[in-house]
This record gives sequence, C-alpha cells and structure tokens, in this order.
Amino acid sequence: ALYNQYEEKIRPCIDLIDSLRALGIEKDLALPAIAVIGDQSSGKSSVLEALSGIALPRGSGIVTRCPLELKLKRIPATQAWKGKMCYRNTSIDLQDASEVEKAIREAQNVVAGTRGAISGELISLAIWSPDVPDLTLIDLPGIARVAVGDQPKDIGEQIKMLLRRTIGCKETLNLVVVPCNVDIATTEALKMAQEVDPTGERTLGILTKPDLVDRGTEESIIKILQNQVVPLKKGYMIVKCRGQQDIHNKLALAAAIQQERKFFESHKHFSMLLEERKATIPHLAEKLTNELVRHIIKTLPTLENQIREVLQKTLHDLQKYKRGTPTTEPEKLIFLTDLIKLFNQDISQVMRGEEQLFGN
Ligand code: GDP
Ligand code: NA
Ligand code: MG
Repeated sequence: ALYNQYEEKIRPCIDLIDSLRALGIEKDLALPAIAVIGDQSSGKSSVLEALSGIALPRGSGIVTRCPLELKLKRIPATQAWKGKMCYRNTSIDLQDASEVEKAIREAQNVVAGTRGAISGELISLAIWSPDVPDLTLIDLPGIARVAVGDQPKDIGEQIKMLLRRTIGCKETLNLVVVPCNVDIATTEALKMAQEVDPTGERTLGILTKPDLVDRGTEESIIKILQNQVVPLKKGYMIVKCRGQQDIHNKLALAAAIQQERKFFESHKHFSMLLEERKATIPHLAEKLTNELVRHIIKTLPTLENQIREVLQKTLHDLQKYKRGTPTTEPEKLIFLTDLIKLFNQDISQVMRGEEQLFGN
C-alpha cells in the first residue's frame, strides 16, 4: 500500500539524495525509521505487516519478543527477491518472502529463548524486493504489565527501557497503537510517547480493531479521531487488520486491504472517517509518506549548505593549482545546488497545497 505513493512522492527525493551521495555529500541522510509501540496484542505487528506487505509473526500473547528492524530496500523489477537476517554472529540468507515469518520466530528463539521471555537484542532483517519502499520499520514487544512463566519480575521495566531507547531517537516516527476496545486515557504507550516527544512532532496515534469496538462506544472513538480526547499534534488514524479468524482462513494481505475498505464504507458510524482520510491502511500509508517527504524537506537546507562548503573548497583547490577552466566537478555542484533549490520550492508548493486540502 505504501508502495504506490512511494513511487510518486518519495522516489524523486531518494534519487536526489542518491545523486548527492554519489558526489560525496556524506551527511546523515537516512530516512526516519517508523516504530510501533503499544500494549501486548494491540495490533502492532499487524499494522506493520499490512504497511509493508510482508507477513510477520503475530497473534495473541507476547509474539514479538525482541526488537525487529525491518530494512526494506527497493530493487528493479528485473531483480530477484532477497532477504538477509542478522542477529548475534549469525547471518542467514532468505530466498523467498514466505520464509520470513518462520525465520523471525527461529531467530527470536535463539536470542530470547523458547519459553516466552523477552530480549532487548535486535534482530535485523534486510529485504530487497521490487515491491517494497525504501523504509525502515521497527517492530517492538508490547508493554507487559505482569511477569508470567519464566519471565523476570521486572519484565515490564525492561521492556519500557527498550522502548524508550528506540522511540527516543530523533529520527524515529512513533506509531502508538491502541485497540478501539481499550480506554485510551490509561494507555501506557501514549504516555511514553509523550515523554520522549513532548511537542508531538513525531507521534501518530493508531486505533486498531474497529470491528471489535463495544456497541455504543462508537461516538467516543470518533471523538478520539477528532483529537478531542488525548490531543496529538499529528492526530489519529484508524485501521482494520487481519484478525485471528482471517489468518486461520489464510486471508491474503492484499485481500485484507479490500475487506478493510468495505468494512469502513458500510459502517454506520465510521464511514465518515473514510472521507476524512483518517481510516484504512492505504490512507495511513499516504499520511506516512507525507511525513517522510516533510522530513526530507527539513533536511534539504542543511544539504544545500554542505554542498556550498564542498563547492568553496573545490574552487579554492582549483585556484591553488591554477588549472584554468574549472573541471566538471564544481559545475556539477553548482548544478545540484540549483536543483535542490528548485526541488525545495516545488515540494514546498505541493505541501502547501496539501495542507490546504487536508488541513494538517
Ligand atoms: P501485537 O502484539 O501488538 O504485535 O499484536 P498482533 O499484531 O500480534 O495482533 C494481536 C492479535 O490481534 C492477532 O490475533 C491479530 O490477528 C489481531 N488483530 C490485529 N488487528 C486486528 C483488527 O483490526 N481486528 C481484529 N479483529 N483483530 C485484529
Ligand atoms: Na501479540
Ligand atoms: Mg507483535
């Protein structure tokens, strides 16, 4: 779902950044990662798999038992799907998307054991595919309240420390996942997100499981989405992902997206949210794409300065050697500086237009 919009909006940005890298502009140009936090079984993994189109381990109880960094890299359609999983000293090559879920479960068993414990050790999975956007998604264990089985007594604190470390990073966009059938005011994840991001610059609320909403509470859900309950600068969105029964019935991710749309279209209370672009995974993808573009635009002025510095130095070096006519390198730099300026102007115009349309 993220992919189509990505092609139109993010791709030009990435291309620009790639060409700058090729010129030796080495500043940290990484796109922000997108992380999910929330209670156990709130639907974090489900949201990430719907966004990425890659099936992840999910289900009831603690399924995600250590942080999983999903580095998606887009490749030309002519090239073959490839995956590489890294943890501890292990590196495993994957040939097909269907191997991902099992590989993650096995990796978790190694770093966190087979008895349900949780670990702060990172599992990193890089995927090269023609069907994914260049994005880093981070799946995280849910906030556990009480230790069960072999889990250490302070498991709750351990997880919170782990989450703070990830969502505290200035380059991370935090999705706070809250099911519709849970009281949002008491949601620990939301409090944590507000702690690490008091101005709400990089926090987006995601309501899940709208099909399980308690009868009669629909109006209060709508109030949350209208930002009237726990206000967030970036607001809230609502999505419906695959439930346990859907997975049992082997409902494909693509088919689930269609069912999600039908669900909202025919919903007595929630259909209005579709028009407001506050519902469905594709609209969430659209929102995230805009956030990423915004982030790139924010870093462009810094880039421009860097290019200027390189240009100055190159011109200075040339003077020193008194080589006469400049080589093509400084010309390239001037060209790129202009290009960035134009790009900046264009994209600012696009964003202004969007702000008028969607009011954010
Ligand atoms: P996590 O622990 O936060 O990562 O949650 P999961 O993604 O593993 O989901 C927990 C359970 O909720 C799974 O059985 C999912 O199939 C189910 N689930 C997720 N989203 C929805 C939804 O929108 N509706 C319903 N009915 N079930 C959902
Ligand atoms: Na779960
Ligand atoms: Mg999970």
